[in-house]
Amino acid sequence: MQKHEMIDHARQIMRDNDRGTYTVPTQGLYPFQWNWDSALSALGFSQFDEARAWTEIDTLLAHQWDDGMVPHIIFHKPDDGYFPGPEIWGTNRPVPTTGITQPPVAGFAVARIHDRARDKALADRQARAMIPKIHAWHQWFYRARDPKGSGLVALLHPWESGRDNSVDWDDAFTRVPTEGVIPFTRRDTTHANPAHRPTDEQYKRYIWLVQKFRSLNWDNSKLHDASPFQVIDPGFNAILIRSCRDLADLAARLGMDQIAQESRDMADRGIAAMETLWNEDLGQYLCLDRITGKQIQSASIGGILAVFAPIPQDRAAAIGRRIATLAESCEYLVPSHDPTAPEFEGLRYWRGPVWLIVNFMIANGLEAAGEMQMVNRIMADCLRLIEEGGFAEYYDPITGEACGGGRFTWTAAMVIEILSSHELIA
Ligand code: GLC
Repeated sequence: MQKHEMIDHARQIMRDNDRGTYTVPTQGLYPFQWNWDSALSALGFSQFDEARAWTEIDTLLAHQWDDGMVPHIIFHKPDDGYFPGPEIWGTNRPVPTTGITQPPVAGFAVARIHDRARDKALADRQARAMIPKIHAWHQWFYRARDPKGSGLVALLHPWESGRDNSVDWDDAFTRVPTEGVIPFTRRDTTHANPAHRPTDEQYKRYIWLVQKFRSLNWDNSKLHDASPFQVIDPGFNAILIRSCRDLADLAARLGMDQIAQESRDMADRGIAAMETLWNEDLGQYLCLDRITGKQIQSASIGGILAVFAPIPQDRAAAIGRRIATLAESCEYLVPSHDPTAPEFEGLRYWRGPVWLIVNFMIANGLEAAGEMQMVNRIMADCLRLIEEGGFAEYYDPITGEACGGGRFTWTAAMVIEILSSHELIA
């Protein structure tokens, strides 16, 4: 496929999933607005329609909670094709939302879109309005999810990570009970192959946590300590740190000095604390279980995505080598779990498959560290996957088989972003 054909195809998918002021990740499986999908999709929009890109993030931030949290799903319109819907979350919002959050990639996206904007006046206006909101979200993280001030924030629900059923959560998840979970019918398995999705056992635990937090009225001053699941994910923290750093730079450019300073301080503390997650044997970062205080021995992509943050140069170089090792056991980079590990499943969601959004963020971090050979390899693999399997939700790293939902918004957005900003491989 020619470059322009691929871009045209990707734009068409984004237009088809556009609901006017927000996009759905894909039709059927995910019929609402998802937090990090929107922020990453805005990057794609910004390459051909800047105003629409700003609207996407604007809509997301319009549903921020008073305490600063930006929710993971906004249920703009009723749709019974998804479980768990608003009646299960019970957050009592004017427009219903879930009560948990997702990777805070919006700060990074806003800074990047502003940086290259053609319409500077619009970009300045939008950025000025969004910066305080995103900053409040970042402060919320360090307040509500790091109450002891360690410099690293914990996830209270696997869905917050964006890597729903990663092997990373298995051990900590054994502490989440299943007693008292309401009977329910999953809807995801009617849209996608159940063998590519999380298991029923995992779903019961996902719902137990939702019921628990709901019983506490979604009061974020109580949720952290009450949760039997408190996991520190290096990938998630890296996204937060990177967004704090980029927001600091943007705020400084716009003369918003106090936010710039506070934001830079948060990023610096986070970077220093990331060192506690480094694992020398594997040459990557690992998750930490805050309840046991131990590193989680799970060789997942979360510890590789950490390169998205401005980590030390030698750490970034080691991650480049770690990916090269992973490349020896798969055909397409970057697998979401080490293919040589016994838990690896090439087709099952976040337990093996390749995701283009994560590839993009890893490549972006490696690029900043000057690891260009690996950047080009990852970008080329992304385009091969699209050529062979179309714009899927995720792909088997061994066979390249397209999995999950089809015609995916953020996959399309990443293709536009990659082809528009990486002349090397275009
Ligand atoms: C799944 C993914 C999550 C994504 C959502 C919508 O839950 O794990 O990362 O945001 O789908 O695409």
